[in-house]
Amino acid sequence: MVVKTATGAPAPLPAGAAAVPAKKGFRAWLNKRLPVDEFIDSQLIGYYAPKNFNIWYFFGSLAMVVLVLQLATGIFLTMFYKPGEATSFDSVEYIMREVDYGWLIRYLHSTGASAFFIVVYLHMFRALLYGSYKAPRELLWLFGMLVYLALMAEAFMGYVLPWGNMSFWGAQVIVNLFGTIPGIGPVLVEWIRGDYGIADATLSRFFALHVALLPLALLLLVLLHLVALRQTGSNNPDGIEIKDKLGADGKPLDGIPFHPYYTVKDFVGIGVFFVLFAIVVFFVPTLGGLFLESANFELANPMSTPEHIAPVWYFTPYYAILRAVPSQRMGALLMLLAVVSFLFLPWLDRSPVKSMRYRGWISRSALVSFAVSFVALGYLGLQPAEGLYVVLARIFAVIYFAFFWLMPFYTRIDPVKPVPERVVYHAH
Ligand code: HEM
Repeated sequence: MVVKTATGAPAPLPAGAAAVPAKKGFRAWLNKRLPVDEFIDSQLIGYYAPKNFNIWYFFGSLAMVVLVLQLATGIFLTMFYKPGEATSFDSVEYIMREVDYGWLIRYLHSTGASAFFIVVYLHMFRALLYGSYKAPRELLWLFGMLVYLALMAEAFMGYVLPWGNMSFWGAQVIVNLFGTIPGIGPVLVEWIRGDYGIADATLSRFFALHVALLPLALLLLVLLHLVALRQTGSNNPDGIEIKDKLGADGKPLDGIPFHPYYTVKDFVGIGVFFVLFAIVVFFVPTLGGLFLESANFELANPMSTPEHIAPVWYFTPYYAILRAVPSQRMGALLMLLAVVSFLFLPWLDRSPVKSMRYRGWISRSALVSFAVSFVALGYLGLQPAEGLYVVLARIFAVIYFAFFWLMPFYTRIDPVKPVPERVVYHAH
C-alpha cells in the first residue's frame, strides 16, 4: 500500500523503512488496467477481522467453496443432460454409465447439494449462537435469508430434473401447495406447471430456472451479503464490536488482517471439509437414501406413488410441520411461517447482549430447545405421517415456533452476564 500526501504525491518514507519495490512486468501492466493489488490491499490485507474467530467461522468461506463446486459441476452436467419427459432420466443414466467420469461429476453435484445445506445450517446456527443478526447486521442477515430462500428453490428444482419417481411426486406435493392460496391457487398451480400435471413443460422451465436464473440470483445475493458484511465488519464469539476500540494507527485493537491470517485458517477448514466430502462421494454417495433417495433411481411414474413421499433431508423439518396439522391450507401456512420466522429475528431479539456466552439460562435453553426441535422435526419429516410421529411433530413444532415468537419476552427477562471490554482470546 502506497501512502499518499494531500497533493497525491507519495509520502516520504520514515527513516530506516525499506522502499517497496516498484511493480514490474506483467504485474505492473495488469495493475495499470485492473486494480488487482489495490483490491487485495484494501479488501483482504486491509480488512481487519476479530482475532477470536473459532471453527464456527469456517462455514461462510466453505459455503462459497461449495457454491463454486456446484456451479462448476453443474456446467459439466448441463453438457450431457437433456430436459424432457422422454430424455431426462435416460440422460442421467447415460452420464452415470457412459460419460467419462460422469458418475464423479454427478455425485460431486448431488453430494454438494446436501453439503451446501449442512454448511449453511451450521453457518446460520453460528449467527444464532453469537447474535450476529442483531444491529448493525440486520441487512447482512436479510441477504443471508434471501440466499437461503434462493438455495431452497434451486435445490427443489434440481431435484426434479433427474425425473425419478420421487422427483415427480415431490414436485407434485410441493407445487400443489400453491393451490392452497385462496382464489388464485388453482390457476397459479397450472401456471407454475405449464400443464395440467407435472410434465414436459414443467421440466423445461425448472431446468431453465435451475441453470440460469437461480444461480445468477444466488451469485448476486451472495455478493450483496459480502458487501454488507464488509460494511459492518464481522461479529465474533464475544459479540463485541471491535470497531469501538481502535489503536493509534486507527486499526481495531482486537482485529487482525484477514489476509494472511484467516485465508490460511480457512484453507485448513477447506482441507478438512474436502476429506469428509470425498469419503461420502467415493464410498457412500447415497448416504443410505438420505442424499439420494432409492425411489429416485426409478423412472417417474404418475401411476405409482412411492410408499412414503418425503423430500430430501434438508427440507424435512418444514415438511414435518406441514403434515403436523390436518388441514393442508393450515399446514402450508405454518410451513411458510416456519421459514419466514427467521427473517424477523433481528427485531424479535431484545437481549442487550449478542453472544450466548453472556446470555442467561433462558436464552441458552431456548436455543438448545430450538436446535433439538429442528433436528427432531427433520427426523419426523422422513417418517410416515401417522400415530406417535404426528404427535411428536406437533410438540416439536410448538417448541420451534415458541423459540421465535416468545423471544421478545424471554430475551428481556433473561439474566445476562457482564460483557468484557475487549474480546477474549487465548493464543494456542
Ligand atoms: C451461499 C450461501 C452463503 C455464503 C457463500 C455466505 C458467505 C458468508 C461469508 C464468507 C461470511 C463471512 C465469514 C463468516 O462469518 O463465516 C458470512 C457471514 C455471515 N453470514 Fe453468510 N453466507 C451464506 C449464507 C448465509 C445465510 C443463509 C445466512 C442466514 C440467514 C447468513 C448469515 C450470515 C451472517 C449473520 C454473517 C455474519 C456472521 C458474523 O460476523 O458473526 N449467511 N457469510
